[in-house]
Amino acid sequence: MQLLHIDSSIMGAQSVSRQLTASAVARMKETTPGLAVVYRDLAAAPIPHLSPALQFAKLKTLHEMGVLHGDIGAMVAAAVQGGARVNPAAQAEYATTNVVLDEFLAADIIVLGAPMYNFGIPSQLKAWIDCLAAPGKTFKYGATGVEGLAGGKKVIIASSRGGVYSASSPMAFMEHQESFLKSFFGFIGITDITIVRAEGINMGPEQRQSALDAALAEVALLKAA
Ligand SMILES: Cc1cc2nc3c(=O)[nH]c(=O)nc-3n(C[C@H](O)[C@H](O)[C@H](O)COP(=O)(O)O)c2cc1C
Repeated sequence: MQLLHIDSSIMGAQSVSRQLTASAVARMKETTPGLAVVYRDLAAAPIPHLSPALQFAKLKTLHEMGVLHGDIGAMVAAAVQGGARVNPAAQAEYATTNVVLDEFLAADIIVLGAPMYNFGIPSQLKAWIDCLAAPGKTFKYGATGVEGLAGGKKVIIASSRGGVYSASSPMAFMEHQESFLKSFFGFIGITDITIVRAEGINMGPEQRQSALDAALAEVALLKAA
């Protein structure tokens, strides 16, 4: 069994989501003999954001593999014929995105640190998600619509946020963090999603402590299978 541990908080040792992911990974190790852990810190070592140069490096590779068709295929073929070259830095970035994707595909369990920043997820975490949205690998479109190809994995999301956005809160409509992640993982076929949440973190020391304690108590009950 392989576990992929992802952190994305920019708050270092003060981070709530980092405490939760560390504790969740420790719990998984305790309950799963022989569990191998791969760690990626998206704040310490950001992965490339999407860009025109990175997109061209990707499309040119797909063109060379003969898997690019239609208008985009014709456009890339014309650009290549016209002498367009891939920037070496972008080629290296494209290689990184593939390593990130392969790491995800190899994992059975993903423990994901996902703080709320400006009502959504950190942009570093969005860049990671952008690597996973891979047609033919994590999803495909067919006659009946989209089919997720990444099923069978377990995702544990450690969610932290300064305010309260749960269903009964008047702020619930501003919540685009957990809902985005649930939509994305559902889109690629993952149904086993557990959210461990500490919210109201910025609403005073008592609320912070009780939210953290409650989330850690939930972590203590997590099971790998
Ligand atoms: C850049 C930034 C943006 C934030 N935006 C929000 C927000 O939109 N809503 C909210 O409730 N809290 C917000 N917060 C507070 C964090 O969600 C809260 O501190 C949480 O603990 C962050 O997780 P972390 O400690 O793992 O980084 C923000 C914090 C930072 C640093």
